[in-house]
Amino acid sequence: MSYTIAIAGKGGTGKTTIAALIVRLLKEQKRGSILAVDADPNNNLAENLGAHIKETVGSILDGVCRNPDKIPPGMSKDTFIEYQVQTSITENEGFDILAMGRPEGPGCYCYVNNILRNITAKLMKDYDYVVIDNEAGFEHLSRRTTRDCDTLLVVSDATAVGLRAAERINGLVKELKIGAKKSLLLINGSNKAQKEMIKRTSLDHIGNIPNDPLITRAGLNAGSLMGIRETAASLKALRKLGENIWN
Ligand SMILES: Nc1ncnc2c1ncn2[C@@H]1O[C@H](COP(=O)(O)OP(=O)(O)OP(=O)(O)O)[C@@H](O)[C@H]1O
Ligand SMILES: [Mg+2]
Repeated sequence: MSYTIAIAGKGGTGKTTIAALIVRLLKEQKRGSILAVDADPNNNLAENLGAHIKETVGSILDGVCRNPDKIPPGMSKDTFIEYQVQTSITENEGFDILAMGRPEGPGCYCYVNNILRNITAKLMKDYDYVVIDNEAGFEHLSRRTTRDCDTLLVVSDATAVGLRAAERINGLVKELKIGAKKSLLLINGSNKAQKEMIKRTSLDHIGNIPNDPLITRAGLNAGSLMGIRETAASLKALRKLGENIWN
């Protein structure tokens, strides 16, 4: 059985950065096979991991909807898509990556949620760890493409707005009965978060990741977070919190 970590939060709080650092630490600790899932149509996770994406689930779906005659005779549409998605998974050193993208064809849209839910859930079972970087906001929750994870990691900045968004996400998770075994709050980019506000959230605050100039530098150079120094302040902080996140 795989251990699934889904990352959520307001826009720009550092979800993708944290997802990439988690993949890096899981790899560093040789904890087993890792699938990084880029569930944000903007596909930033690959860049942060220094990985290349062949094709997204969205473009595969578009292709199949546009050219249904390409489905081999005797093969169902679902099996064909499943096969294509499987082959779109890119293997990298120490982890695989699957990019969701977003299909454009209107005729396909109703089909997408099913694919995201069922086929990817099936693929994920083959890995020891699955790290899902979601797009900002709530849509992935209401579309129920995030469900049944071991850890829901809500990333927030230290602001009241960020924390309110984090709280809303957790509220929605409960309301929609999304099965998150634990819902954790991680403050990113600051060591000075408003303690009183944090206490009032229903999330379990596990700690803070400081603003790290090495992340800024990697971002400016479009560099991968797999290459930053082991002693980087962000990595050190996350390493300490890891047992809570992936156990
Ligand atoms: N701890 C940190 N120290 C310094 N810079 C950081 C830190 N965390 C994130 N950043 C920077 O903040 C910016 C936003 O981070 P990131 O892309 O991870 O956020 P996001 O929540 O995934 O955004 P989006 O909602 O657009 O997907 C990036 O430029 C990133 O390099
Ligand atoms: Mg992101």
